[in-house]
Amino acid sequence: MCGIFGYVNYIVDKSRGEIIDILLDGLQKLEYRGYDSSGIAIKGDNPNETTIIKRVGKVRVLKEEIASRTHSDLDRSKIFNSHAAIAHTRWATHGSPLTVNCHPIGSDPKNDFVVIHNGIITNYKALKSLLESKGMVFVTETDTECIAKLFKHIYDQNPNIDFNQLTKQVLYELEGSYGLLVMSSHYPNEVCATRKGSPLLLGVKTDRKLTVDFVDVEYEDTKKSENNFGLSPSAALNGGNGHAGLRTTGSRAFLTEDQDGQPSPVEYFLASDPSSVIKHTKKILFLEDDDIVHIHDGELKIHRLNSKQIGEETKRQIQDFEMELNELMKGTYNHFMQKEIFEQPESTFNTMRGRIDFDNYKVTLGGLEQWMPLIRRSRRILMIACGTSYHSCLATRSIIEELTEIPVSVELASDFLDRKSPVFRDDSCVFVSQSGETADSMLALRYCIERGAITVGVVNSVGSSISRQTNCGVHINAGPEIGVASTKAYTSQYIALVMFALSLSSDSIGRRSRHEEILKGLQKIPEQISAVLQLEEKIKKLCNDHLNKQKSLLLLGRGYQYATALEGALKIKEISYMHSEGVLAGELKHGVLALVDKDLPIIAFATKDSLFPKTMSAIEQVIARDGRPIIICNENEGTISGMDSKTMAILEVPLTVDCLQGLLNVIPLQLISYWLAVSRGIDVDFPRNLAKSVTVE
Ligand code: UD1
Ligand code: F6R
Repeated sequence: MCGIFGYVNYIVDKSRGEIIDILLDGLQKLEYRGYDSSGIAIKGDNPNETTIIKRVGKVRVLKEEIASRTHSDLDRSKIFNSHAAIAHTRWATHGSPLTVNCHPIGSDPKNDFVVIHNGIITNYKALKSLLESKGMVFVTETDTECIAKLFKHIYDQNPNIDFNQLTKQVLYELEGSYGLLVMSSHYPNEVCATRKGSPLLLGVKTDRKLTVDFVDVEYEDTKKSENNFGLSPSAALNGGNGHAGLRTTGSRAFLTEDQDGQPSPVEYFLASDPSSVIKHTKKILFLEDDDIVHIHDGELKIHRLNSKQIGEETKRQIQDFEMELNELMKGTYNHFMQKEIFEQPESTFNTMRGRIDFDNYKVTLGGLEQWMPLIRRSRRILMIACGTSYHSCLATRSIIEELTEIPVSVELASDFLDRKSPVFRDDSCVFVSQSGETADSMLALRYCIERGAITVGVVNSVGSSISRQTNCGVHINAGPEIGVASTKAYTSQYIALVMFALSLSSDSIGRRSRHEEILKGLQKIPEQISAVLQLEEKIKKLCNDHLNKQKSLLLLGRGYQYATALEGALKIKEISYMHSEGVLAGELKHGVLALVDKDLPIIAFATKDSLFPKTMSAIEQVIARDGRPIIICNENEGTISGMDSKTMAILEVPLTVDCLQGLLNVIPLQLISYWLAVSRGIDVDFPRNLAKSVTVE
C-alpha cells in the first residue's frame, strides 16, 4: 500500500541534505506497508524549479541514487530557511512499477505542480481524454498524472487563484479515493494536502508551547460543478475564474507566534500513518475526508471541500500521541500475524472488490480477460507453488476441475523441477505466490516459459518477479503480509482461484445455478470470517489448557478439507514448533491409526458436505481408541453436539458452500497456531529458521 510523507519547515534553517534525510527516514518508516518504488520532490536551485528523484525498488535504492549525485548536481549543503517537500512509496496499481510511473508525478516537464497520491481515481480515463483534447501530453500510465495536469490546467486559466481554492477546483473534478499532497513552484514553500478514503495526518513541531490545541475548520459556500465531467466539462476546466462563493464562517488558523505576535519557527509533517511522524513530534492531528490542509508561511489552515453540514465537527484536535512505533504499526494487536488473521474480513473483501458483480452473478478478472479464450482451450492446467500457496491450489483444484472440466494437477515447485516434468505449449501453468519472488516457483516459471506454455500468476505483490514475468494473472490485493506465517494471503489466493474457475467457466449455461450458489457464498465470506474470529478466546484457552503441553498433533480432513488439514499442520509446525501432520481421513486406517491413544490431540474437520458421513466414521474410529478429538463443525450440528463428553473441544463455524468451507475452517487453525506459539513464548512474527520470502532454491 502506498505511503505518503511531506515535510515543511518555516523559519527553521535546514540544509538540503537534512531535508532529504528527513524525507528518506519518513519513507523508511512506511516501508512495512509494502511498496515497489519510491521518490521525493524538493526545491531546485532556482526558486521556480522543483527537483524530483525517484527509483524503482527499495528506499535504499533511492538513497543510493541520491548519494551518487555530485555536488554540482545536488548541493546538499544549500540552506533553506523555509521549504516544502513531499515523498512517496508506491505500491503499483495503475501502471507497472517503472521509474516514470513512480511518484512524485509532475504536471509537465518543468514540474509546475507535483503530486503524490494514494488511492485510485476512477474517472481518470475521462479526465485524461479531456486534458488530452486540450493539448496536454501524458507521459505515465498512472491515474495520478491527471491530478497533476488538472492543477496546471486550472491554474493556467487563472494564475491569481489561491492554492487551496485551486485544490478545491481540482477535487471537484476527481472521483475515487485519494490521500494527496501537492506542491508547486507557483506557490513556493506551500503544500496542500487532502484525503478521501485514504488516511492522512499531520504532525506539528515547534519549540513554543501551543496556545491552542485545535485548528478551526474553514467553510465556504462553494458549489460543486454539476456538470458531469467528460460529457459536459465543468466551468473550472473551461477556464472559469475558480473563485468560490462567500465565506460563511470565519476561523482562526493555527499559527505559532512569539510574545510580540511575530511568527515563530515551526515544522509540519504530513503522512499516511503516524509511524513516520512520531519520531519528530507527538503532536498529531488526524484529518477527515474532504479536509483540505493548506500550509503557508508557517500557518496551517483546514478548509472543507463542501459547505458545512448540520452537526459537523468544526475543529480538528491536535492530540498528544503517546504510542510507540512498534505498537503503532501493529495497531491493537500483539503481532503482525494476529493482525493479519483479523484483517481477513477486509482482505477477502478486497480480493473480490470490483471483480464480482453480485447482482448479475458476473466475475471479471481484468488481468485474464484477453487470455481466457486461450486458457479455456488448454489441455491441462498445472498449478505450481510452495508451502501455503501450494495448499491454496490443493484447496481449489477440485472446483476448477468441476467447473472447467480441464484436468488440473497441483505441483510443489521444487518437486516439479526435480522431476523435469513434461510441459507442453497447450498447457496453462498457474503460479501462486504471496511474495511473487519465491525462487523455486520462479525457476518453475522459467522452465514453463521456455516450453511455450501459457503462464498465469496469482500473486499478492504487484511488480514482483512472478507478476511481471507471467503472461497474465490476478493480483490478490490482500495488502502487505508481514508475519512470516502466511494467513490472509491464503484466504485471498483461495478466493482468487475460485474466481479464476468461475471466469473460466462463465460461458457454461449448465453451470449457471452452481455459479450463483458459489457467488452467493462468496458474498457472505467476509462476515462469516468475522463470526469465526469470535472463537479466539475459546481457542486461546484450549491452547493454554491442553495443547501446549503436547509434542505432536494430527489433523484429519478429506475432500475439500484435506488441504485445510495440510495448511493447519504447516501453520502449527512453523509457528509453534510442534510436530503436526495433516492426514487424509480416508487413509487413517491404512497406518496412522496406530498413533491414536488418549493423549494425542487430533483435530478433525466435520463440516457438512457430501463426505460428512465418511468423516464421522473416521472420528468414531478415533473415539473408539480413547482419542478425544477437537472437532471443527458447522453451527448446531446435532450429531456432533451430542458428543461433547467424548471430545476435547467442539469449534463451530458457519456453513457455506462446500468448495468455500475451507476458507472458514482454516481460521480456527490459524488461531490455534498463533495462540499455541504465544503460550510457548515464541516470537510469532519471526519463527526460527524461516524467512518471509524464500529467494533461494
Ligand atoms: C487493474 C489495476 C487496478 C485497477 C483495475 C481497474 C493494476 C496492478 N491493477 O486491476 O488498480 O483498479 O485494473 O481498472 O494495475 N498480472 C500478471 N501476472 C500476475 C498478476 C497480474 O501478468 O501474476 C497482470 C494482469 O494480467 C494485468 C495486470 O497485471 O495485466 C494487473 O492485474 P490485476 O491487478 O489483477 O488486474 P485488475 O484486477 O484488472
Ligand atoms: C507458510 C509460508 C510459506 C510460503 C512459501 C511460499 O506460512 O508462508 O510456506 O507460503 O514460502 O511463499 P510465496 O507464497 O511467497 O511464494
